[in-house]
Amino acid sequence: MTSPSIPGQPHIHYADGQLQVEGCSLDGLATEFGTPLFVYSKASMLAALAAYQRGFSGRNAQICYAMKANSSLGVLQVFAQAGCGFDIVSAGELARVITAGADASKVIFSGVGKTRTEMRQALEAGIGCFNVESEAEIDVLNAVAVSMGKCAPISIRVNPNVDPKTHPYISTGLKGNKFGIAHERTLATYQHAASLPGLQIVGIDCHIGSQITEETPYLDAMDRMLDLVESIEAAGIPIHHIDFGGGLGIDYQGDTPPAADALWAKLLTKLDARGFGQRKLMIEPGRSLVGNAGVCVTEVLFMKPGEQKNFCIVDAAMNDLPRPAMYQAFHTIVPLDEALHVKGSTNGLVCDVVGPVCESGDWIGRDRPLAVQAGDRLAVLSAGAYCMSMSSNYNSRPKAAEILVDGQNHHLIRVRDTMADQMRGEKLL
Ligand code: LLP
Repeated sequence: MTSPSIPGQPHIHYADGQLQVEGCSLDGLATEFGTPLFVYSKASMLAALAAYQRGFSGRNAQICYAMKANSSLGVLQVFAQAGCGFDIVSAGELARVITAGADASKVIFSGVGKTRTEMRQALEAGIGCFNVESEAEIDVLNAVAVSMGKCAPISIRVNPNVDPKTHPYISTGLKGNKFGIAHERTLATYQHAASLPGLQIVGIDCHIGSQITEETPYLDAMDRMLDLVESIEAAGIPIHHIDFGGGLGIDYQGDTPPAADALWAKLLTKLDARGFGQRKLMIEPGRSLVGNAGVCVTEVLFMKPGEQKNFCIVDAAMNDLPRPAMYQAFHTIVPLDEALHVKGSTNGLVCDVVGPVCESGDWIGRDRPLAVQAGDRLAVLSAGAYCMSMSSNYNSRPKAAEILVDGQNHHLIRVRDTMADQMRGEKLL
């Protein structure tokens, strides 16, 4: 018997009393591969991508998956095979996408601190565009390209000074942020870039923040970007593509971000109205492609009732799931056993779900009603984005294993770290 899927996560549902990702039981996977275990739905990733593809149908658009959200090779392969380009922020990410089979000409390189070595490697690989973030970077990239006898394709990342109305740590398009070139400096910067022999201007770019759940910041940023394109082109510098970045939010806790196709229907209407409908478009979505496709399965180690707080101590921790500790982020947590899910929601013990790491900041969920005991397994939902890619070995904990589910089949896409993995490269005195 199949129960309705988890809200916002159509590929995750209870079937025969157990939580499943597509056609695979999470309990079965946890028994086979151990916990903590990340499990991703391929269908969910492709469905999220399809919403953007629908939104852009009939347009000249390129979707560049912002791989920092989840940079595991198996995940990158899914997007490479679906025809995506990639937004990268380091030579490490470049090496990963090339390994995963990406077409280098569809790779764009963002980030405020590219090193000369990274610039050289990206030029060597033949990437599609450098998203340049400062006037100093322009001169360095020009020098690197000239020294290699190459011309670097660039777009300038503009800081449009628009409030994305999200957590301050993940706002990027406000004046006080380190990202992009100030709106007022943009034209002069383009004029300077156009005079340099090692650079070829191909576009303009912005990215205003992450986990954005309203459409207004996007509409405002688009207006400001189009104003700039008009003034840059009036100065005789053609802008071939406009990159609107990523940032679209997902449903973590009843959040209601616009659907990608609905948002783009509105943005395209504006673009058309302003006469830019035929321009090549680029976007850099990360979270919205993978966030709700993944869960982290963890096992309850101990229940620890207390006078002020009850604790449910699990085997996943802040090294696996850093978002709550870093941003006070909310992830829904549900038992794999549907009966316990039902019992917990009506008659659960309110507890903090915490990991074994020796920090009070090591919590995964606060004040959650749960009817579980040691040995029961829980799924931390919406864990496909910015979890594994931000995980660490803190407390010398191994990085978790990862599974990609495809219908009834599953693929182990990352083996759990061994201690040899963790100590590789270290040397005794
Ligand atoms: N493009 C650029 C230049 C970015 O900096 C980012 C994200 C993206 C695209 C993709 O944004 P998305 O579509 O995923 O929102 N660790 C934080 C999120 C940091 C986002 C950093 N930049 C979190 O866990 O919430």
